[in-house]
Amino acid sequence: MPDKRERGAGAEAEIHRRIAGEIEQLRGHSQLRTLEIPAGIDLSSNDYLGLAYDPRVREAARESLAHAGRVGATGSRLLSGNAREWEDLEADFAAFAGTEAALYFGSGYAANLGVLTSLLRPGDVVFSDARNHASLIDGMRLSGATKVICPHRDLDFLRNALHEHSGATGAKLIATESVFSMEGDVAPLEGMLRLAKQHGAALVVDEAHATGVGGPSGRGLAAEAGIEREVLAIVHTCGKALACAGAFVSGRQALKEFLINRARTFIFSTAMPPYFAGQIRAALELARAADRERTYLRDIARELRDELHAAGIECGSSSTHIVPVILGGNDAALHVANSLQRAGFAARAIRPPTVPPGTARIRISLTCRITREQMRRLAEELRGACALVRQGAETANA
Ligand SMILES: Cc1ncc(COP(=O)(O)O)c(C=O)c1O
Repeated sequence: MPDKRERGAGAEAEIHRRIAGEIEQLRGHSQLRTLEIPAGIDLSSNDYLGLAYDPRVREAARESLAHAGRVGATGSRLLSGNAREWEDLEADFAAFAGTEAALYFGSGYAANLGVLTSLLRPGDVVFSDARNHASLIDGMRLSGATKVICPHRDLDFLRNALHEHSGATGAKLIATESVFSMEGDVAPLEGMLRLAKQHGAALVVDEAHATGVGGPSGRGLAAEAGIEREVLAIVHTCGKALACAGAFVSGRQALKEFLINRARTFIFSTAMPPYFAGQIRAALELARAADRERTYLRDIARELRDELHAAGIECGSSSTHIVPVILGGNDAALHVANSLQRAGFAARAIRPPTVPPGTARIRISLTCRITREQMRRLAEELRGACALVRQGAETANA
């Protein structure tokens, strides 16, 4: 019989075999992802308003750091990490979001995980759009609630599913993104809220890709629909259009108090340094006033979609600044991504499991920094690369 040390060595070898085996398997399916430094015209970042390069945001960060009492947060918010800067910014963010209160988390992932794991428990039922982001999915999984996956944006399915679970004794919650990150389409928020009310369910909305971009003054799609005070929790992230990091959970004061006491990703994590609040504040003010940039984004996205439709290129139900070019197979997506990269565009292929099998794509996320001339070249490159992929598929099938 192997002794304890030999058994330990065997277990370690198994882990090494697993690592090597999975890497090989991913490589074999053209699914092995690698880290690359982006180069070229930006088509894959979430810097929608171009604020990551804005000298005013840079200056605000410099000023804030220069005047900071301390550089590090030194602890979680419940211990030594709280600061006037964060409390003031949370109050201002709540006013922006149109809610009673807001609580800042170190990332959108942590915010979604914190919200869902603290609100839900076993015996509850959570209704989740099939295209929801991994952070929402992981939060639901960890909570132990029963998960009902609803086909993308399907209100009839949601209505029936809520009806089917009308006898459930636990709480019911609907979770959705407002602008879907891989599809660029939008959730039917008003319909979802109506159903939620009819069935005694709560609604949680992740505005990650709408914050700063969608709705009046970039306040998001819940605000656009005028329902921001009726949604239980709205997650506005700061790492995308606001060119910072972190996320605010906006809602009632009671929700904030509850999260401070129950959200483990808030409680057991070091706060962000107080000076960082200065960068977010500056970005928020600029985003609020960025109507011209929002109009430009909307226009170039619509023009691109029109050109792609005319060339018979699939871009799903996108209606926002995120335009997926859906190619199907991983190899086709890699081919088009490589062609775009050779033409000077920083495009990446998005493959399963990030998107459903058979829907590998180039996710084009437009930013205000792209010029009309670059947009013209992009459409031309896409037409050429997609035509080659199509020809290749036809030859293979002949
Ligand atoms: C819809 C959505 N929610 C949440 C997140 C997570 O936000 P963060 O990057 O700040 O962790 C992302 C990030 O990609 C996202 O796309």
